[in-house]
Amino acid sequence: MKRTPEPELMQSPSQVRAYADADFSRSDSMVIQSLEKYLKKVGKTLNKTDLIFDIACGPGNISERIAKNWPFVNVVGIDGSKEMLNEAENKLLKSLSKNLSYQLIEINSIAKGETHFPFKADVLVSNSALHHFHDPYGFWGALKKLGKNKCIHIHRDLIRPPSIEKAFEIKEKHLSNSPEILKKDFYASLKASFTVDEVTQQLIDAGLSQLKVFQVDELYFEIIGCI
Ligand SMILES: C[S@@+](CC[C@H](N)C(=O)[O-])C[C@H]1O[C@@H](n2cnc3c(N)ncnc32)[C@H](O)[C@@H]1O
Repeated sequence: MKRTPEPELMQSPSQVRAYADADFSRSDSMVIQSLEKYLKKVGKTLNKTDLIFDIACGPGNISERIAKNWPFVNVVGIDGSKEMLNEAENKLLKSLSKNLSYQLIEINSIAKGETHFPFKADVLVSNSALHHFHDPYGFWGALKKLGKNKCIHIHRDLIRPPSIEKAFEIKEKHLSNSPEILKKDFYASLKASFTVDEVTQQLIDAGLSQLKVFQVDELYFEIIGCI
Protein backbone atom coordinates (compact mmCIF):
# COMPACT_ATOMS: atom_id res chain seq x y z
CA MET A 1 0.00 0.00 0.00
CA LYS A 2 1.30 3.44 -0.96
CA ARG A 3 1.88 5.88 1.91
CA THR A 4 -0.78 8.60 2.44
CA PRO A 5 0.57 11.34 4.75
CA GLU A 6 -1.78 12.80 7.35
CA PRO A 7 -1.64 16.34 8.80
CA GLU A 8 1.54 16.77 10.86
CA LEU A 9 0.25 18.64 13.90
CA MET A 10 -2.75 17.35 15.84
CA GLN A 11 -4.69 20.52 16.59
CA SER A 12 -8.40 19.90 16.29
CA PRO A 13 -9.89 20.08 19.81
CA SER A 14 -12.04 16.93 19.36
CA GLN A 15 -9.11 14.99 17.92
CA VAL A 16 -6.79 16.11 20.73
CA ARG A 17 -9.39 15.29 23.41
CA ALA A 18 -10.02 11.80 21.98
CA TYR A 19 -6.29 11.12 21.82
CA ALA A 20 -5.63 12.43 25.33
CA ASP A 21 -8.52 10.33 26.75
CA ALA A 22 -7.46 7.11 25.03
CA ASP A 23 -5.69 4.36 26.89
CA PHE A 24 -2.34 3.62 25.23
CA SER A 25 -0.80 2.41 28.48
CA ARG A 26 0.27 -1.02 27.22
CA SER A 27 2.22 0.40 24.29
CA ASP A 28 3.45 3.43 26.28
CA SER A 29 4.91 1.24 29.02
CA MET A 30 6.88 -0.68 26.40
CA VAL A 31 8.78 2.50 25.48
CA ILE A 32 9.94 2.78 29.09
CA GLN A 33 10.82 -0.92 29.21
CA SER A 34 12.84 -0.61 26.00
CA LEU A 35 14.75 2.34 27.40
CA GLU A 36 15.41 0.52 30.69
CA LYS A 37 16.58 -2.57 28.81
CA TYR A 38 18.88 -0.58 26.53
CA LEU A 39 20.41 1.41 29.40
CA LYS A 40 21.15 -1.88 31.15
CA LYS A 41 22.63 -3.36 27.98
CA VAL A 42 25.05 -0.47 27.46
CA GLY A 43 25.78 -0.17 31.21
CA LYS A 44 24.58 3.43 31.49
CA THR A 45 22.98 4.76 34.66
CA LEU A 46 21.06 7.99 34.22
CA ASN A 47 21.98 10.71 36.71
CA LYS A 48 20.78 14.21 37.54
CA THR A 49 22.86 15.89 34.87
CA ASP A 50 21.17 13.85 32.14
CA LEU A 51 18.51 15.37 29.92
CA ILE A 52 15.78 13.42 28.10
CA PHE A 53 13.64 14.87 25.28
CA ASP A 54 10.33 13.30 24.29
CA ILE A 55 9.92 14.36 20.65
CA ALA A 56 6.37 15.11 19.45
CA CYS A 57 5.20 14.37 22.98
CA GLY A 58 1.49 15.07 22.40
CA PRO A 59 -0.43 15.00 25.71
CA GLY A 60 2.73 13.91 27.52
CA ASN A 61 1.89 10.24 28.15
CA ILE A 62 5.47 9.11 27.61
CA SER A 63 7.06 12.24 29.11
CA GLU A 64 5.13 11.67 32.35
CA ARG A 65 6.17 8.04 32.56
CA ILE A 66 9.82 8.89 31.98
CA ALA A 67 9.74 11.69 34.55
CA LYS A 68 8.24 9.34 37.15
CA ASN A 69 10.61 6.50 36.37
CA TRP A 70 13.73 8.70 36.57
CA PRO A 71 12.64 11.48 39.02
CA PHE A 72 16.16 12.95 39.24
CA VAL A 73 16.55 13.37 35.45
CA ASN A 74 15.21 16.43 33.62
CA VAL A 75 12.65 15.59 30.97
CA VAL A 76 11.44 17.96 28.24
CA GLY A 77 8.45 17.15 26.05
CA ILE A 78 8.44 18.94 22.69
CA ASP A 79 5.43 19.32 20.41
CA GLY A 80 4.22 21.82 17.81
CA SER A 81 0.57 21.68 18.86
CA LYS A 82 -0.56 24.17 21.49
CA GLU A 83 -3.73 22.12 22.00
CA MET A 84 -1.72 18.96 22.76
CA LEU A 85 0.59 20.82 25.12
CA ASN A 86 -2.41 22.28 26.98
CA GLU A 87 -3.45 18.69 27.73
CA ALA A 88 0.09 17.87 28.81
CA GLU A 89 0.36 20.96 31.05
CA ASN A 90 -3.00 20.18 32.68
CA LYS A 91 -1.82 16.69 33.57
CA LEU A 92 1.44 18.14 34.85
CA LEU A 93 -0.46 20.40 37.25
CA LYS A 94 -2.00 17.26 38.80
CA SER A 95 1.12 15.07 38.80
CA LEU A 96 3.38 17.84 40.14
CA SER A 97 6.44 16.28 38.48
CA LYS A 98 9.16 18.84 39.14
CA ASN A 99 11.57 17.34 36.62
CA LEU A 100 9.23 17.69 33.61
CA SER A 101 8.53 20.66 31.35
CA TYR A 102 7.12 21.23 27.87
CA GLN A 103 8.24 23.29 24.87
CA LEU A 104 6.04 24.39 21.97
CA ILE A 105 8.26 23.90 18.93
CA GLU A 106 7.56 22.84 15.37
CA ILE A 107 10.18 20.14 14.89
CA ASN A 108 10.94 20.70 11.19
CA SER A 109 12.07 24.21 12.16
CA ILE A 110 14.85 22.64 14.24
CA ALA A 111 15.99 20.54 11.29
CA LYS A 112 15.98 23.63 9.05
CA GLY A 113 18.03 25.59 11.59
CA GLU A 114 15.22 28.14 12.08
CA THR A 115 14.83 27.21 15.75
CA HIS A 116 17.84 26.70 18.00
CA PHE A 117 17.08 24.74 21.12
CA PRO A 118 19.64 25.82 23.75
CA PHE A 119 20.24 22.34 25.23
CA LYS A 120 21.15 18.95 23.84
CA ALA A 121 19.80 15.64 25.07
CA ASP A 122 21.51 12.55 26.48
CA VAL A 123 18.45 10.50 25.54
CA LEU A 124 15.96 11.12 22.72
CA VAL A 125 12.66 9.28 22.83
CA SER A 126 9.63 9.37 20.56
CA ASN A 127 6.42 7.43 20.22
CA SER A 128 4.01 7.54 17.28
CA ALA A 129 5.86 10.57 15.95
CA LEU A 130 7.80 9.72 12.77
CA HIS A 131 4.71 8.84 10.72
CA HIS A 132 3.33 12.37 11.23
CA PHE A 133 6.20 13.92 9.27
CA HIS A 134 5.46 14.52 5.61
CA ASP A 135 9.21 14.49 5.06
CA PRO A 136 10.80 12.00 7.48
CA TYR A 137 14.14 13.81 7.12
CA GLY A 138 12.63 16.74 9.04
CA PHE A 139 12.34 14.35 11.98
CA TRP A 140 15.79 12.78 11.54
CA GLY A 141 17.44 16.16 10.90
CA ALA A 142 16.00 17.55 14.13
CA LEU A 143 17.16 14.53 16.11
CA LYS A 144 20.70 15.01 14.83
CA LYS A 145 20.64 18.59 16.09
CA LEU A 146 19.02 17.77 19.44
CA GLY A 147 21.24 14.90 20.58
CA LYS A 148 24.61 15.11 22.32
CA ASN A 149 27.45 12.95 21.14
CA LYS A 150 26.67 9.33 22.22
CA CYS A 151 22.99 10.19 22.61
CA ILE A 152 20.73 7.19 23.28
CA HIS A 153 17.72 6.85 20.98
CA ILE A 154 14.46 4.94 21.51
CA HIS A 155 11.77 5.58 18.88
CA ARG A 156 8.59 3.56 18.50
CA ASP A 157 6.04 3.92 15.73
CA LEU A 158 3.35 2.17 13.73
CA ILE A 159 4.19 -0.04 10.76
CA ARG A 160 2.31 0.62 7.52
CA PRO A 161 0.27 -2.51 6.70
CA PRO A 162 0.74 -4.10 3.25
CA SER A 163 -2.78 -3.32 2.01
CA ILE A 164 -5.76 -1.08 2.67
CA GLU A 165 -7.77 -4.20 3.62
CA LYS A 166 -5.16 -5.15 6.21
CA ALA A 167 -5.12 -1.57 7.58
CA PHE A 168 -8.91 -1.75 7.99
CA GLU A 169 -8.68 -5.17 9.66
CA ILE A 170 -5.99 -3.92 12.11
CA LYS A 171 -8.06 -0.83 12.96
CA GLU A 172 -11.14 -2.97 13.73
CA LYS A 173 -9.11 -5.50 15.70
CA HIS A 174 -7.24 -3.05 17.92
CA LEU A 175 -9.74 -0.20 18.32
CA SER A 176 -13.09 -1.96 18.13
CA ASN A 177 -14.48 -0.26 21.25
CA SER A 178 -12.93 3.19 20.72
CA PRO A 179 -14.71 6.41 19.70
CA GLU A 180 -15.15 6.88 15.95
CA ILE A 181 -12.77 9.88 15.82
CA LEU A 182 -9.95 7.84 17.35
CA LYS A 183 -10.59 4.97 14.92
CA LYS A 184 -10.49 7.40 12.01
CA ASP A 185 -7.20 8.91 13.21
CA PHE A 186 -5.67 5.48 13.82
CA TYR A 187 -6.62 4.35 10.31
CA ALA A 188 -5.10 7.53 8.85
CA SER A 189 -1.96 6.94 10.92
CA LEU A 190 -1.60 3.36 9.67
CA LYS A 191 -1.76 4.66 6.10
CA ALA A 192 0.75 7.43 6.87
CA SER A 193 3.26 5.13 8.55
CA PHE A 194 6.49 3.73 7.16
CA THR A 195 7.62 0.16 6.65
CA VAL A 196 10.67 -1.25 8.42
CA ASP A 197 12.54 -1.28 5.08
CA GLU A 198 11.72 2.39 4.45
CA VAL A 199 12.95 3.38 7.90
CA THR A 200 16.14 1.33 7.43
CA GLN A 201 16.81 3.31 4.23
CA GLN A 202 15.96 6.64 5.94
CA LEU A 203 18.51 5.91 8.67
CA ILE A 204 21.20 5.19 6.08
CA ASP A 205 20.35 8.33 4.09
CA ALA A 206 20.29 10.48 7.24
CA GLY A 207 23.70 9.18 8.36
CA LEU A 208 22.13 7.46 11.36
CA SER A 209 22.77 3.85 10.39
CA GLN A 210 24.14 3.03 13.86
CA LEU A 211 20.50 3.10 14.95
CA LYS A 212 18.74 -0.22 14.36
CA VAL A 213 15.10 -0.67 13.45
CA PHE A 214 13.22 -3.91 14.13
CA GLN A 215 9.62 -5.05 14.09
CA VAL A 216 8.20 -5.57 17.59
CA ASP A 217 4.75 -6.96 16.74
CA GLU A 218 1.96 -6.61 14.19
CA LEU A 219 1.62 -2.88 14.91
CA TYR A 220 4.97 -1.42 15.89
CA PHE A 221 8.65 -1.14 15.10
CA GLU A 222 11.30 0.25 17.40
CA ILE A 223 14.47 2.10 16.56
CA ILE A 224 17.17 1.78 19.18
CA GLY A 225 20.81 2.74 19.47
CA CYS A 226 23.43 5.23 20.47
CA ILE A 227 24.95 7.78 18.14
C1 LIG B 1 0.16 10.50 17.54
S1 LIG B 1 0.67 11.87 18.50
C2 LIG B 1 1.82 11.07 19.59
C3 LIG B 1 1.94 11.78 20.89
C4 LIG B 1 2.85 11.13 21.93
N1 LIG B 1 4.19 10.97 21.44
C5 LIG B 1 2.29 9.84 22.44
O1 LIG B 1 2.91 8.81 22.25
O2 LIG B 1 1.22 9.85 23.04
C6 LIG B 1 1.73 12.77 17.39
C7 LIG B 1 2.17 14.11 17.90
O3 LIG B 1 3.16 14.63 17.04
C8 LIG B 1 3.00 16.02 16.96
N2 LIG B 1 3.70 16.50 15.76
C9 LIG B 1 3.53 16.05 14.50
N3 LIG B 1 4.32 16.70 13.64
C10 LIG B 1 5.01 17.59 14.38
C11 LIG B 1 5.98 18.59 14.05
N4 LIG B 1 6.38 18.78 12.80
N5 LIG B 1 6.48 19.35 15.05
C12 LIG B 1 6.07 19.16 16.32
N6 LIG B 1 5.15 18.24 16.70
C13 LIG B 1 4.63 17.46 15.73
C14 LIG B 1 1.50 16.20 16.91
O4 LIG B 1 1.09 17.51 17.22
C15 LIG B 1 1.06 15.16 17.93
O5 LIG B 1 0.98 15.72 19.21
